[in-house]
Amino acid sequence: MPDHDTLCGWGLKEKVAYFLEKADIIIPRRREQLDFLIDLFPWPCEEPIRVLDLGCGFGAITEEILGKYPHASVTSVDGSEEMMKLARERLAKYGDRVRLHFADLADPSWHRDVTGPFHAAVSAVAIHHLVDDRKRELYREIYDLVDHGGIFLNDEAVASPPGFKARFEEMHYRAIQEQERAKYGVARPVEELSKNCVRRWRRRCVSPATIAMSRPCLPSSHGFRRRGSNRSTAFGNTSGWRFSAA
Ligand SMILES: C[S@@+](CC[C@H](N)C(=O)[O-])C[C@H]1O[C@@H](n2cnc3c(N)ncnc32)[C@H](O)[C@@H]1O
Repeated sequence: MPDHDTLCGWGLKEKVAYFLEKADIIIPRRREQLDFLIDLFPWPCEEPIRVLDLGCGFGAITEEILGKYPHASVTSVDGSEEMMKLARERLAKYGDRVRLHFADLADPSWHRDVTGPFHAAVSAVAIHHLVDDRKRELYREIYDLVDHGGIFLNDEAVASPPGFKARFEEMHYRAIQEQERAKYGVARPVEELSKNCVRRWRRRCVSPATIAMSRPCLPSSHGFRRRGSNRSTAFGNTSGWRFSAA
């Protein structure tokens, strides 16, 4: 039994309400990131694909997938009741094309009632909430749930490559300022944005290493073969792993 809040505060109504209102502002170029993630799907839009959305939150990615793939079905997993309430409302119109699965990804039994195989597993800014050992186990579990030839796409914040930190930070804050200005007409100065950002990361990361995120932790021994796409920007990092026979 973990001795910390495995949801890193996402059980709190205020935190969820804040993210619902601000996700498109505090995450730079959020829309572009989500579009890019789904653009990486190699299937034609008519395909009845089955997708797993891990840490689905209020259902933003799930909804994008259902919109772009009218015959797709999505199993959307999250451990926050507050988030699930929002997802339930938002996704109700898609009927049985969506299955909401309430589970804590920190618990290895989270997938007990999840029936694969899936064509794709996706996740956005969620897996970093787990401690590193648990991330590794989760990748193995995802691997087992995704079909051969399937894909795992994880849109996450990761540590900047050496030499790019200052440049990425500048781009990151500038994008947030542009988004704030577009929505509110004014933007906070970079110093303030940077202070808030650092505080947020510190508070929500269980171990300092979690800020380095999942990509370096992915062991090839788990049967993953890195193929295809990996785009790293100041705004996030979408890493794609195709699965081949282990
Ligand atoms: C920043 S939100 C992202 C939500 C969604 N992926 C999006 O991009 O809109 C992080 C999500 O991860 C979920 N989460 C964090 N830790 C979790 C855990 N241990 N088990 C299940 N979900 C978790 C939170 O409840 C929250 O919905």
